[in-house]
Amino acid sequence: MEIITMDQAVSYLNQKVQINAWLTNKRSSGKIAFLQLRDGKTYFQGIVLKEEVGEEVFDTVKGLGQESSLKLIGTVQADERSSLGYELLVHSIEVVGESHEYPITPKEHGTDFLMDHRHLWLRSSRQHAIMQIRNEIIRATYEFFNDRGFVKIDPPILTGSAPEGTTELFQTKYFDEDAYLSQSGQLYMEAAAMALGNVFSFGPTFRAEKSKTRRHLIEFWMMEPEMAFTDHEESLQVQEQYVAYLVRNVIDNCHLALETLGRDIDVLEKYTQVPYPRIEYTEAVQLLKDNGFDDIEWGDDFGSPHETFIANQNDQPVFIINWPRSIKPFYMKVNPDNPETVLCADMIAPEGYGEIIGGSQRIDDYETLAENIKSFKLDPEVYAWYLDLRKYGSVPHSGFGLGLERAVAWISGIEHIRETSPFPRLLNRLYP
Ligand code: 4AD
Ligand code: MG
Repeated sequence: MEIITMDQAVSYLNQKVQINAWLTNKRSSGKIAFLQLRDGKTYFQGIVLKEEVGEEVFDTVKGLGQESSLKLIGTVQADERSSLGYELLVHSIEVVGESHEYPITPKEHGTDFLMDHRHLWLRSSRQHAIMQIRNEIIRATYEFFNDRGFVKIDPPILTGSAPEGTTELFQTKYFDEDAYLSQSGQLYMEAAAMALGNVFSFGPTFRAEKSKTRRHLIEFWMMEPEMAFTDHEESLQVQEQYVAYLVRNVIDNCHLALETLGRDIDVLEKYTQVPYPRIEYTEAVQLLKDNGFDDIEWGDDFGSPHETFIANQNDQPVFIINWPRSIKPFYMKVNPDNPETVLCADMIAPEGYGEIIGGSQRIDDYETLAENIKSFKLDPEVYAWYLDLRKYGSVPHSGFGLGLERAVAWISGIEHIRETSPFPRLLNRLYP
């Protein structure tokens, strides 16, 4: 007998198969039991008829606890009422592992309780849907960049440098030296771009940010392309095409997951249209002032209310471009049209999800970069290798970083970033 998962049901209609699954819920009357099952791929219904399986098996079924693991033999049937379209008419059941008093029941639980049981919460249909969308975004990311000839490069996680400022670093001992967990692979990716042209990384990054917002994780995954012989304008085009591609693939390949989450596909469709609108930082500040934000001045960073207001002007992601150099990192190239600003952009997602991409053109001139390293009070010895890149055949180059979990939260339409990571690292939470 073939062992299948229920997502393959279409190829096994009216055939006898084995499915290995867990019981999520059940209801029964005198002669018939309805089992809600999950096989890792999908959630589906199993029908057990007393006259089919016999008294003994039927009684066993009635006594099964939530999350019992089972080997089921049955016939795949069409079922128009389920969103899957199929159910299993069960002929026999073997209990593999019993389960009693499973802590997460179909009733409502508080967030803290669910977070304490994250190892079990992952089994629920909503979490399952989010993990599938996360997986699709990862898959589509590799596809997008591989199709365009980018080479995947893995920058180190233990580093001696701090690209995004020195206040949010996890420090650890590295034998006799101090090391930090990577905040961003960017500086290493710049070296790789000079070797391989177009490269991308995709790996964990760490920020010791004492932020407890719905957008911040302590550990998150970042996707960082870096492109040689590429200016910021070209990088913006890659960014919008890439994000539109992610949304397109989630729409096309994650129907059931989006349905489980109640995500409106028409809203998502708008995000597949490029180009995305752009606004200069300076114009954005003016727009905010004109609309009653008296807490913002030119030179300030934006908080989430500011980002959300700007994002709400459109129903697509928006680029805020050319930020003041005083609030951006040391490696960004000055904007020749307005030297108080740098050639950079934040991509702000609609619907209040905030910044999902930060990117810029990098300084390619040795003297300018050396001066910045000094004026930012960074240790020149630590950055000597990074300066070397400007010494031997320097070229204009640009890149960006997309935060995977923020993208997942936005595309899935879920409220809080903590549900986008299988085991989120949050302020004050390291368990489980
Ligand atoms: O804007 P950031 O700090 O940019 C960089 O690190 C650049 N070095 C990237 C590059 O040019 N190669 O971070 C990039 C993205 C943000 O837009 C956001 O999506 C995500 O990383 N991010 C976070 N996501 C979750 N939790 C946090 N604490 C995050 N901090 C940044
Ligand atoms: Mg940023």
